[in-house]
Amino acid sequence: MKSFFAVNALALASGAAARTFTVFNACPFTIWPAMFTDLNVAPNVPSFPTGWEAPAFTSVSFQVPNNWKAGRIWGRRNCNFSTNPGPNSCLDGGCNGGLLCDPHTGTGVPPASLAEWTLQGDGNQDFYDVSLVDGYNLPMRITTNTGCPVAECAVDLGPNCPAPLKGPFDSTGFPVGCKSACLANLDGNQANSGNCCSGSHNTLATCPSSGVDFYSYFHGNCPNAYAYAFDDAAGLKTCTAGNNPDYTLTFCP
Ligand SMILES: *[C@@H]1O[C@H](CO)[C@@H](O)[C@H](O)[C@H]1NC(C)=O
Repeated sequence: MKSFFAVNALALASGAAARTFTVFNACPFTIWPAMFTDLNVAPNVPSFPTGWEAPAFTSVSFQVPNNWKAGRIWGRRNCNFSTNPGPNSCLDGGCNGGLLCDPHTGTGVPPASLAEWTLQGDGNQDFYDVSLVDGYNLPMRITTNTGCPVAECAVDLGPNCPAPLKGPFDSTGFPVGCKSACLANLDGNQANSGNCCSGSHNTLATCPSSGVDFYSYFHGNCPNAYAYAFDDAAGLKTCTAGNNPDYTLTFCP
């Protein structure tokens, strides 16, 4: 109670409104959520650790700046940080730094499902999405407390993942990820690729979903997520920033 009051008194004193983010692990196993903010874009970062352990069926809530920009949260699977903590401490989603992701370089090792936010963006809208552009590693859902659209990939895309994309695998052989066609480098040149929307394919017109290998697997199972880079129509969600929506991210919804 005391710390709750202190945090709110500080927010009022600085005149900075904030949003409450809740991250709930509904998976029946431990995951290690991680958070990264692109400091080239963001004026403020959440005052919360950039990584934490989330046992099954537990949640945490924390404050995020009202104008958080280019922020992302993802989950890490099968981690052990006891020796050489770093990107390889987890089967997927690991980051430079270990449990705490480095604030400058601590993005996740793909494949990893991403929950992404830019608050108070163009038109005073919040923008948010679930992205499978860097592949999939956990089901996730973003909801608001103001009735804005749900962003989600609620299906476990691992077990039925197309063979060229399937994995990595845990010690029992279970697939804990499913790579995107770009990440798997299916067309052999990530610098000029219709799967990556790069090089001569770097516009919506030159990178249609019809040119993305296995698009239908990702989009068919997760129609409210980005299945490839230019998938705004499916994946991008907006919410009126002036209503100061709070967000809940649920893993394994
Ligand atoms: C983590 O790794 C260390 C060093 O390899 C090992 O001794 C330990 O048993 C591992 N812990 C778990 C929970 O697997």
